[in-house]
Amino acid sequence: MRSSVALLARTRLLGLAMARSAQPVRMALQSHINQHISSCPTDTPSESRRHYSSRPSDQPIHHIRAKVTLATLRKLYKRGEPITMLTAHDFPTGTLVDKAGMDMTLVGDSLAMVALGYSSTSEITLDEMLHHCRAVARGTRSSFLVADMPFGTYETSPEQAINTAVRLMKEGKAEAVKLEGGKEMAPTIARLTQVGIPVLGHIGLTPQRQASLGGFKVQGKTAAKAKGIIEDAQALQDAGCFAVVLEAVPEPVATHVTNILNIPTIGIGAGVGCSGQVLVQQDMLGLYGRVPKFCKTYRSLADEIVGALKEYSAEVKSGAFPAAEHCYPMPQEELNRFMRMIGQDEQEEEPESDKHKASA
Ligand code: KIV
Repeated sequence: MRSSVALLARTRLLGLAMARSAQPVRMALQSHINQHISSCPTDTPSESRRHYSSRPSDQPIHHIRAKVTLATLRKLYKRGEPITMLTAHDFPTGTLVDKAGMDMTLVGDSLAMVALGYSSTSEITLDEMLHHCRAVARGTRSSFLVADMPFGTYETSPEQAINTAVRLMKEGKAEAVKLEGGKEMAPTIARLTQVGIPVLGHIGLTPQRQASLGGFKVQGKTAAKAKGIIEDAQALQDAGCFAVVLEAVPEPVATHVTNILNIPTIGIGAGVGCSGQVLVQQDMLGLYGRVPKFCKTYRSLADEIVGALKEYSAEVKSGAFPAAEHCYPMPQEELNRFMRMIGQDEQEEEPESDKHKASA
């Protein structure tokens, strides 16, 4: 009696051979199939093993912890516990940040470069930011979600800033907005906060203004420039910011600013004296070329990923992937019916001894 294994072997061989229609390929594949066929199931597999990446998951995206709010951030600040923040630009990266227990997730406009390949953050549009913000929001349950206001969408007037912020909150599902600039932005920030929009300030190195700053340079390196940063920080606090990002500022300056403010400072390249830290996810995971001096590379994922992709490519070329366990079985009866339908039911498995005779 013909075994299900033999039938399956022929079915796989037939399909593969039809696809490639080449005798040498078929022969090579036959030995591959023989190695794997005994592990190929013929009955209905358990649902848990059968997922399509395009099928929505019925599982919660991950364990849900308490929601981080402005009150939570305030509590962390008051008890001197450093606040954690990391960027995300899409659903998977947003989910990871949330799952890792980060206090805040930032949909930073750095995504213009690290996710979209633009040469500067100034090129990204509000619609693009909204698209990414919504995706991150779908993966965020607990982290406090902040979105960057892109260059050119808030500088003209407080009304323009309110319109942009409202869109980021209503359409992008952000809980707060971040904008770059010091005391010159204080009136705009005051209007935003007066209408109930939480604002995270951003001073020191402000990448949207890198053209006028003469590039990505450390700010506040002279006493006079440091004084300007202190004044900016004070103005942002007075305008109602719930916290201020200090980017690329010497540590003593950032520590002093932190000490004189009564809102948290979130440092990036500003040393350990800040109330919290933020990094760009691609930088700290080694996914985006050379990293700035202030960033620690916690993993070199680009190397890992390229290694995995090369392995996949080699396995496809050799026929090692997909193996039997990656294939869908048919009920035995249907398989028999199918084999008869395609006229394959008359062929018996050649006994090993005959095969040797034929090739001799
Ligand atoms: O856009 C961004 O990712 C940022 C951080 C670097 C703070 O603004």
